[in-house]
Amino acid sequence: MSGLFAVIGDPIDHSLSPNIHSAAFRELNLGCSYIAYRIPKGQLKSGIEGLKKIQVSGFNVTVPHKVEMVKHADKLDESCSLIGAVNTVENKDGVLKGYNTDMDGFLDPFKKKGIPIKDLKVLLLGAGGAARAIVAGFAKEKAGEITIANRTVQKAEELSEFSKENGLDATHVGVAEVGDSAKNYDIVVNATSVGLKNERSPISLDSLRGDAIVYDIVYMPMNTDFIKRAKERGARIIFGYEMLLGQAVRAFEIWHDVKAPYDAMKKALLGGGV
Ligand SMILES: NC(=O)c1ccc[n+]([C@@H]2O[C@H](COP(=O)([O-])OP(=O)(O)OC[C@H]3O[C@@H](n4cnc5c(N)ncnc54)[C@H](OP(=O)(O)O)[C@@H]3O)[C@@H](O)[C@H]2O)c1
Repeated sequence: MSGLFAVIGDPIDHSLSPNIHSAAFRELNLGCSYIAYRIPKGQLKSGIEGLKKIQVSGFNVTVPHKVEMVKHADKLDESCSLIGAVNTVENKDGVLKGYNTDMDGFLDPFKKKGIPIKDLKVLLLGAGGAARAIVAGFAKEKAGEITIANRTVQKAEELSEFSKENGLDATHVGVAEVGDSAKNYDIVVNATSVGLKNERSPISLDSLRGDAIVYDIVYMPMNTDFIKRAKERGARIIFGYEMLLGQAVRAFEIWHDVKAPYDAMKKALLGGGV
């Protein structure tokens, strides 16, 4: 098998996807390559035409194109029509099919660690694109209740409505109003971008229970302040790189129709400065 794959976005230089997928190609002796390709906002249509001309077999989509990509796909998998965003595209003879592997990627560490989500109480920080995929994941796994906390309260309210439409018992709150309520939850997830620049945790974790699960989807740095505070409380930690790997594995399997070499991909990621 051979083929060219890509990740598109802007900025794109920092992307770890080329490392992860190239390691998988080496491990399975696939004659494929994977490039990072910068497409600025507003230039998605012409960028995709360029990718078709060089006959890419598939590509990942990241900020700022995930939502706009929905309009440019010829077909959509159920995963992205639900979430309203595309992060993986398969190109079969010029026909582009969009998928969203963020939901499965988010759930993957729970499955690997054997942690059931059913009936657990969730506090979700953030209401952006990733948070929406996460809500879809919690709905699929039938979480008990979910509280959405976001800086912009209106977006928290919208995501809470989406949660209810998908069968979750949901409420919303401003992130500044969370106070010391972490103790009321079984799972606390940071799906804001707070932590990327080493900022303080978006909420206090002082009251967190020692049996809680704390998941930060920010993957760089690996040990954010949010994670450090959760570790101090003795919580069970899920790192952002685990979701990153989960979504990459799912994308790999869509494109190549073989089981992805998880360990080789993980080694490439953790050896790559995460
Ligand atoms: N591990 C993975 O595989 C993976 C996958 C996808 C995304 N991510 C990471 O997840 C993060 C969010 O991605 P996204 O695509 O959802 O981004 P997004 O759509 O731009 O949403 C950003 C979210 O962060 C909040 N936020 C930003 N700055 C804040 C601040 N200073 N204080 C409080 N809240 C703040 C925003 O609140 P407002 O609504 O108030 O602006 C919004 O809820 C990024 O760091 C991204 O790298 C990781």
